Amino acid sequence: MSLLIRNGRVITAVDDYYADIFIEDEQISVIGKNLEMEADREIDATGQLVIPGGIDPHTHLDMPFAGTTSADDFESGTLAAAHGGTTTLIDFAIQSKGESTLKALDTWHEKADGKTAIDYSFHMIITDLEQNRLHEMKKLAEEGITSYKLFMAYPGVLYVDDATIYRAMRKAGEDGTVICMHAENGIVIDEIIKEALAKGLTAPKYHGITRPTRMEAEGVHRAISIAEVADVPVYIVHLSSGDALQEVVLARDRGVPVFAETCPQYLFLDESMYDQENFEGAKYVMTPPLRNKKNQEELWRGLKFGDLQSISTDHCPFCFKEQKEMGIDDFSKIPNGAPGVENRMSLVYNGGVVEGRISLNKFVELTSTAAAKMFGLFPKKGTIAVGSDADIVIFNPERKETISKDNPVMHHMDVDYSAYEGFKIQGVSETVISRGKVIIDNCEYTGKKGDGRFIKRNLYSENFPIEKKVDAAKVPSK
Ligand code: URP
Ligand code: ZN
Ligand code: ZN
Repeated sequence: MSLLIRNGRVITAVDDYYADIFIEDEQISVIGKNLEMEADREIDATGQLVIPGGIDPHTHLDMPFAGTTSADDFESGTLAAAHGGTTTLIDFAIQSKGESTLKALDTWHEKADGKTAIDYSFHMIITDLEQNRLHEMKKLAEEGITSYKLFMAYPGVLYVDDATIYRAMRKAGEDGTVICMHAENGIVIDEIIKEALAKGLTAPKYHGITRPTRMEAEGVHRAISIAEVADVPVYIVHLSSGDALQEVVLARDRGVPVFAETCPQYLFLDESMYDQENFEGAKYVMTPPLRNKKNQEELWRGLKFGDLQSISTDHCPFCFKEQKEMGIDDFSKIPNGAPGVENRMSLVYNGGVVEGRISLNKFVELTSTAAAKMFGLFPKKGTIAVGSDADIVIFNPERKETISKDNPVMHHMDVDYSAYEGFKIQGVSETVISRGKVIIDNCEYTGKKGDGRFIKRNLYSENFPIEKKVDAAKVPSK
């Protein structure tokens, strides 16, 4: 099956030109002006942006958490992602304490295999890493799992101590892989939560109040310090506040290879959402929590000037009815997370490009290219180039829609609310192509369950060569 996209405005992280794109055997094979070729199908992209398929490097599909499971599985979650213009996502496999990480990987392969609409990979969440398990990290890398997530939060559940963090970082450095960090001081936060509950403060808004930005900044500072001593890079996930960003900026200015992502919820929503009546604030109980609005412009500044590299969603949906309601008498029992995988591209285009904060190239970089480079998918994914996978979005930059759980064009996530209900956006992913197959055709799903494939990722060190430190003792003196 060959496909020819004509007359589009092709935008990558660095290019901006008008061209035709010829696709065959799942890849882009020719890019040029007025191509004289015949294809099985032609799409006229006049007036449209032709951009690399989005890459969301942080989702939680079919994830067991807080006594329940996230509402989207690999079928509904990837279908919704496709509608939103995302063609690859990186989810998380979770090692239970005492379990082999390789066994955990098998479990997650079973959850996803044959179900997805788009391509996918996993980071491995490590919850326990005794010496006798360290060798598994190399085996995971050989299986294409070249990044890990560690948690400084959620004591007794996903939390790992600093010794484990250091050990995992050293081994990741040796193997050329990378550690992603949920950076919050979970130990102190748990004490603050106990204090709040003892005073009878049980409403959703106390989720935010008990997780101060300073405790996020402390986690980021500690993660960076440990990484610096371990002599490895570190990637901070779902960074939510100006205080935490400041730690990243200081470290980067010192030359430490620290990378970080933020998420649409921290750019477009703020702590006032917790004040909604009838327990509706629970819809926004996520970790880190929504912050004071002033943080939003600080995060945009970080994105603009390159201290934040990527925008993921941390899509972790729980239905309001029955799931969020588990915490009706105690905010600490509300399952943490919110939906968003379908909304990311439109939100970032609207808030970033339409509102004049970032360029089109930056939009592509933040939603696709940077994650591809960071997590070993580039140049197969994350760009439009000859030889790259034909993962392409034909994006209508003028179309206006309202995000709502009741708008059939904008909501395919299997969750009973939208975190962005009523948001008016400009910019819609109308046609989505995954490895040369049109899976969304003018906003209609034309793919099928199982179109997506597991993608083995390359090592971090292949895209970011690790500087070889010169051993002073071996440098000959003049
Ligand atoms: O609230 C969130 N973010 N839930 C998912 C788990 C995590 O910490 O990423
Ligand atoms: Zn996290
Ligand atoms: Zn997450």
